[in-house]
Amino acid sequence: MFIILLQIFRMEAVVTALVTIFTSLVIAVLYVQYCYSYWKRRNVPYLDPHFPLGNHHTMFPKGISIGNISRQFYQEFKNRGVKLGGVYMGLQPQLVVTDPLLAKNVLITDYQHFDDRGIYKTKSAPITVNIFAQAGAEWKNARSKFTPTFTVAKMKTMFDTVRTCSEIMEQHLLKTVEEDCSKDIDILETMACFTTDVIGAVIFGIQCNSFKYHDAEFRKMGRDLFEEFHYIDGLKLFLTQYFPRLSDFLGVSNIQKGVTEFFTNSVKEAVEYREKAGVKRQDFLQTLIDLRSQGKLTLDEVIGQAFLFFAAGFETSSNAGTMCLYELALQQDLQDKVRANVNSILNKYNGEVTYDTLNEMKYLNQVFEGEGF
Ligand code: HEM
Ligand SMILES: *[C@@H]1O[C@H](CO)[C@@H](O)[C@H](O)[C@H]1NC(C)=O
Repeated sequence: MFIILLQIFRMEAVVTALVTIFTSLVIAVLYVQYCYSYWKRRNVPYLDPHFPLGNHHTMFPKGISIGNISRQFYQEFKNRGVKLGGVYMGLQPQLVVTDPLLAKNVLITDYQHFDDRGIYKTKSAPITVNIFAQAGAEWKNARSKFTPTFTVAKMKTMFDTVRTCSEIMEQHLLKTVEEDCSKDIDILETMACFTTDVIGAVIFGIQCNSFKYHDAEFRKMGRDLFEEFHYIDGLKLFLTQYFPRLSDFLGVSNIQKGVTEFFTNSVKEAVEYREKAGVKRQDFLQTLIDLRSQGKLTLDEVIGQAFLFFAAGFETSSNAGTMCLYELALQQDLQDKVRANVNSILNKYNGEVTYDTLNEMKYLNQVFEGEGF
C-alpha cells in the first residue's frame, strides 16, 4: 500500500515537472517570437533575425567585428533604398539609420525619443551606473549636476595641467630618440600614456607617471579595461551587451573585478583623505565629493561617475590622437602644413602654448577634427 502510494506520488512529480518544462518552453518560444516581431508590428523594413543573437549571428563562428556587422546592416538597407531599417541585437531591437538628415534628427531634434545609448548597467555593480549608461530622467537628473564642470573657465584651469603632461611626454620622446634614433616608437602606447596622465591629473588630481613606470597603476587599469581581456571577461562583456536583462537579473558586471576594486578603493580613499584632512583640489573628483557632501550624490554614484570619466576620457582621446598622427604620417604635405601652422602661431607668442594660442591654430584643429582629410 505504502509503495503504491509512493509510486503515484512519484508519477505525479514527474508529470508536474514535465508540464512545467513544457509550459516554460512554450512561454519562452512565444516570448522570443514576440520580441522578434517588434519591427514587423511597426511596419519598419527589417532583416530576419536568428535566435539567439538576432542579426548579430555572423559574430560566431566567422568572427565578424561589430563595426563590420554594422556596416553590413547599413549596406543592406542602403541597397534596398530605405532611409531606415530594423535589426535585432540578441532579443533587443536596433534601428539602423542610413540617411544623414534622419541621423541628425536622432541626435538633436528627436533626442527625447532616443535618450538611451543602450549601454549596460546594473545596480549590483555600482561602478556601471554613470551618465554614459544612464537614460531618460535618471540621466537628465545626474547630468544636470555636472553642468558647472564643463564651462570654458573650468577648461582653462585644466589647461595648465594638460600642458604639464604634454611636457612630460615631450621629454620622454626626446630621451627615447637620443638613446636610439632608429628605434620605433609605439604611438598608440605613447598617446595612451599621455591621455592617462591627463585624465589622472584633471579628474583624480593624481600624478600617474605612465611614462616613468611601465606598470603605473592607472595605465595598467587602462590596459586591463581595453586591451587585456581574459576569456571570462570577454564572455561577460558579450552577455551584458547582448542579453542585458538576463545579465542584470543574474547581477553580471561588464567591468572586470580588478578594475572595479581599484577604482572603488581609490575613490573611497581619496574621499576619506580629503574629508579628514580638509583638503580641496581643483579636479573633477572634488566636484563629485562636493556634490556628495551636499547630499546630491551617494558614494556609489561618485565611484560610478568618476570611473566613467577615466574610461570615456583616456581611450577615446588616445585613439583620436593616434589616428590623427597616423594620417599625418601618410600625408607628408598635410604634416608640413600643420607644422607651419603651429610654428607661425608659436612665433607670434614667443613660443608659449596657452589655451588661446592653441585655439588660434585653426589648421591644427581642423586636422584633429578630421576636416583636413
Ligand atoms: C576624441 C576624444 C573623444 C571622443 C571621440 C568621444 C566620443 C564620445 C561619444 C561618441 C559619446 C556619446 C555621445 C552621444 O551619445 O551623443 C561620448 C559621451 C561622453 N564622453 Fe566622450 N569622447 C571623447 C573624449 C572624452 C573625454 C576627454 C571625456 C572626459 C574627460 C569624455 C567624457 C564623456 C562623457 C562623460 C560622455 C557622456 C555624456 C553624457 O551622457 O552627457 N569624452 N563621448
Ligand atoms: C572589416 O571588413 C574589411 C573589408 O571587408 C576588412 O578589411 C577589415 O579587416 C574588417 N575589420 C575587422 C575589424 O574585422
